[in-house]
Amino acid sequence: MSQSQQWDARGYDDRFSYVTSYGADLLELLDIQPGERVLDLGCGTGHQAAALAALGAHVVGIDSDTAMLDVAQAEHPELTLLRRDAQALDAAELVDAAGGPYDAVVSNAAMHWMPRQDDVVAGVAALLRPGGRFVVEMGGHGNVARLIAAIRSAQAAVALASDVTTPWTFPSPAEQASRLERYGFTVRLVQLFDRMTPLTGADTAADWVRMFGAGMVEDVPADRRAEFDGVVDAAGVSLGLDHRPDGAPGWWADYVRLRFLAELAPAPG
Ligand code: BEZ
Repeated sequence: MSQSQQWDARGYDDRFSYVTSYGADLLELLDIQPGERVLDLGCGTGHQAAALAALGAHVVGIDSDTAMLDVAQAEHPELTLLRRDAQALDAAELVDAAGGPYDAVVSNAAMHWMPRQDDVVAGVAALLRPGGRFVVEMGGHGNVARLIAAIRSAQAAVALASDVTTPWTFPSPAEQASRLERYGFTVRLVQLFDRMTPLTGADTAADWVRMFGAGMVEDVPADRRAEFDGVVDAAGVSLGLDHRPDGAPGWWADYVRLRFLAELAPAPG
């Protein structure tokens, strides 16, 4: 998934499974037909690829992270999974792996880890058949703004450079739609929406940062990590992340989703 951090793939599945669950309605949007060839881009631990295969699709999954792929392959030995960077797709190789051009490419909660969005979209266009679908959910403009602010507060408190760039890319709908059009897609749907996301059990903002923001905190000295986490949580409290907007107890993440469905132009004539 990420190009820039080591993943705890089992922890991801155990405590952050909401990422996968929220992908379920993406599959409704994809409306897969039995026998279709589908690429799962950033397949992580393989749940979505397995769900697609259960619907009768011929699935190839790619991810750049070895730990994620190891879990995916151990749990779903029947799937074709490859370690590949979605920003440098080899269309001929992937079309060969599926036995022909793809009917659809789907991606859930992965594309915001890819700074070279143009390369991803160009690569996807090269492996879809004419009229093929590209269906994505990812972080959109404004995603996890409060969590990022909490990290910035903690960086300031332990006197770290607060200009460490985030490893994520959260495009606006307009930006992503025009990118898709540049590479020959017709955008059928593009949406940006808030998704208040409850954290699991007793997890706090600092736990979220430990799983997803490792690249932003690697300069924190080990002996100051507890202090850093304390400031993340204190800032999270002042930003309201410990009080869910629906009144339920527990912490939440301020996710903003960008979702789109785009179709590659049909063959001329
Ligand atoms: C997301 O799914 O929006 C996300 C996950 C981890 C880090 C940043 C964003």
